[in-house]
Amino acid sequence: MKQKEIRIGMIGYQFMGKAHSHAYRDLPFFFNTKIKPVQKAIAGRNESAVKEAAEKMGWESYETDWRRLVERDDIDVIDIVTPNHTHAEIAIAAAEAGKHIITEKPLALTLEEAHQMYEAVQKNGVTHMICHNYRFAPAVQFTKKLIEAGRLGRIYHFRANYLQDFIMDPQFPLVWRLKKEVSGTGALGDIGAHSIDLARFLVGEFKEVVSIMETFIKERPMGEMSSGLQAKSNNSTLGEVTVDDAALFLAKFENGALGTFEATRFAGGNRNKNKFEINGEKGSVRWDMENMNNLEVYFANDEPGLQGFRLINCTEEIHPYAGAYWPSGHIIGYEHTFIHLVHEFLNGIANNYQPEPNFKDGLKNQQVLKAVEESAELKQWVNIAEQ
Ligand SMILES: NC(=O)c1ccc[n+]([C@@H]2O[C@H](COP(=O)([O-])OP(=O)(O)OC[C@H]3O[C@@H](n4cnc5c(N)ncnc54)[C@H](O)[C@@H]3O)[C@@H](O)[C@H]2O)c1
Repeated sequence: MKQKEIRIGMIGYQFMGKAHSHAYRDLPFFFNTKIKPVQKAIAGRNESAVKEAAEKMGWESYETDWRRLVERDDIDVIDIVTPNHTHAEIAIAAAEAGKHIITEKPLALTLEEAHQMYEAVQKNGVTHMICHNYRFAPAVQFTKKLIEAGRLGRIYHFRANYLQDFIMDPQFPLVWRLKKEVSGTGALGDIGAHSIDLARFLVGEFKEVVSIMETFIKERPMGEMSSGLQAKSNNSTLGEVTVDDAALFLAKFENGALGTFEATRFAGGNRNKNKFEINGEKGSVRWDMENMNNLEVYFANDEPGLQGFRLINCTEEIHPYAGAYWPSGHIIGYEHTFIHLVHEFLNGIANNYQPEPNFKDGLKNQQVLKAVEESAELKQWVNIAEQ
């Protein structure tokens, strides 16, 4: 098959920069794609750091101003892996320049920005996607198939916990994720947004929510994040934490199902425990990112005496994406979820359809985020349709 090349320009190059760069590199190795991604250029503000990142992660060139990347004629896709407050400005400029766009989550800082971003991509007819990568674990995709095939029947409960602990030390510095003007919300938008996306993907649209949010450590040493989720500061000056450390909420879905959600970075011992359980009239499923290849499944019509959760290792040919890799039982990991997402994105461009999740999903997710914040403030149920 003759492959068309599509030239990627990526803005930002740390945690998610590494995950996306790897996805572009490995996609053509494992999947037969109509389009081959070319890592054309990355942008960052610090020349020596961006040059080093370009060399390390396989990018042909670099820019020190993202605007220059958006203007370049030899770039077809803009990939945004910068903090949340930059997403709207970059995405709108990229859409106006006719570039296809993939952006990290949450879509924007505010719902207003999210609306503007969605309008811009629609007006300019570009392909767009938001990086809710956990949808793309084979076990999660297989859960979707089970639900669509009616194997769980009517869904009663969606129960999600997204638990981390990387900021529990009060000396952990005031990184961008803890500043409202840069991140929008705290645990809610950073990790709760993923649970919201999984719920929308697997159960359906949210109807209303009621929540509580808390900031346990109100001041922290000023300092910047060094890499990934790790950070240190030698600064004794304290700054105010302006986002939530934990967000808990209940939800009603349009289809009558009930949801319980917990997003916290204060769950000691839980590094990236992104879990859900779904209970339906005919069966249940459980998934946990830290054992992402496995799915626990229970069917109510199993023989009496043998009923209970069975453990499925989702590495068989029949499990979505798994067949592209290794023989059964030879597991895959976190980075593969990004390969699958990029695969869908490039398929969308090649075959002229809007892949999911896209900016519309990002916008709907942002409506839920806003409703959760509002509910915590008002101490009452908030309807999503009123956002
Ligand atoms: N999909 C996921 O599971 C997941 C995981 C982590 C982060 N994220 C999202 O990815 C985005 C980036 O997070 P991260 O963890 O990679 O952050 P990070 O701090 O590791 O990296 C941010 C990058 O953006 C650059 N940057 C910062 N401000 C900039 C600006 N004004 N202009 C240009 N470049 C700028 C930094 O130099 C750095 O390269 C965020 O939106 C975050 O919510 C998603």
